[in-house]
Amino acid sequence: MTGAPDPARRLGPVVRLAPAKLNLTLAVLGVRPDGYHELHSVMVPLDLADRLSVSILPPGTADSLHVDGFDPGPVADNLVLRAFAAARRHAHPTWGREEPPPALAARLEKRIPVAAGLAGGSSDAAAAVDAALEAWGVELGAGARHRLAAELGSDVPFFLAGGPALAEGRGERVTPLGWLRTASVGDVSVDDSTRPGGPALLLITPAVAISTPAVFRAWDEGARVTGGAARLASAHLAEELRKGIRGQDLMARASVLAAANDLAPAAAAVEPALVPFKRALLRQLGRPVGLSGSGPTHWALYASHAQAAEAADRVRAAIGVGELTAPGPRPPFVAVARILARTTQPAEPQEPRREP
Ligand code: C5P
Repeated sequence: MTGAPDPARRLGPVVRLAPAKLNLTLAVLGVRPDGYHELHSVMVPLDLADRLSVSILPPGTADSLHVDGFDPGPVADNLVLRAFAAARRHAHPTWGREEPPPALAARLEKRIPVAAGLAGGSSDAAAAVDAALEAWGVELGAGARHRLAAELGSDVPFFLAGGPALAEGRGERVTPLGWLRTASVGDVSVDDSTRPGGPALLLITPAVAISTPAVFRAWDEGARVTGGAARLASAHLAEELRKGIRGQDLMARASVLAAANDLAPAAAAVEPALVPFKRALLRQLGRPVGLSGSGPTHWALYASHAQAAEAADRVRAAIGVGELTAPGPRPPFVAVARILARTTQPAEPQEPRREP
């Protein structure tokens, strides 16, 4: 027999963490002939992550998915199952057997809010592809993995980068961007160059699911600002991150970054209650507040995890006493997350290494 090793011999499930992403910038450059929008966005993965566990099923069974935590909607529509099917199709030729790679059972702990502008579903899909290939013992080249990811959704290729990246095109053109300088150990870590723990993000996600296509439609219909400020801020940040910046440099850019989301007016057109909510957050936090992706997750940057956690407590308390109200039937999701940044520059493009 040639091809992959017998997957039945694998011990235990394959486990993957599927990180959320945050758009530090998001510029919409125009509409493409295929109806998608041309983007320029600096995206960072966060240590807020879903957990996916994947096991091989016996012959004669079908892929299955069990979800705990946030409700992502009907299981049959879940990107994890679509990712398994697509991975099986791509893996079959290298699998070395006539029958396709076997069915998979997945358990997904959803800790990332759904339809929140944090790309949780896209990250789950990227993790599902990776876990499926490992469970089957199949190797796919970088090109094939990228095609497979782009097929699954515009945000999925970003998660192959394994760190901060610039996403262009409809999101499928991903350039790994350097690093936050760090003193941590390991190939993926959080920046701690400025103070213990380094900068952290406060995330506040009102309990209103926002449809990304609806937000892009609102942009098409004119809910947008002109002037290209987001594009400029995005290009600037991409260039700086490519070379490597410190947490404190990121902090210094917080107000520019918080304003650098071209989808913010369109998200407000889809969910008008976001406008007074953001105003209230600005008053409450007294610092710049940005929107991730098509929303409704808002973010604020802090110099340390402790400061962000303290702000999170204040936000929860203000919500508890009715001082801060958020749209939606439930209180918002409030969390503190760190950026998962590389500790070394990515291999491409080649740049001489700069020491912190
Ligand atoms: O690629 P994905 O299926 O995740 O995109 C969801 C929707 O978001 C698309 O159907 C499209 O309406 C919109 N979109 C867009 N331009 C992009 C990415 C997404 O118009 N670059």
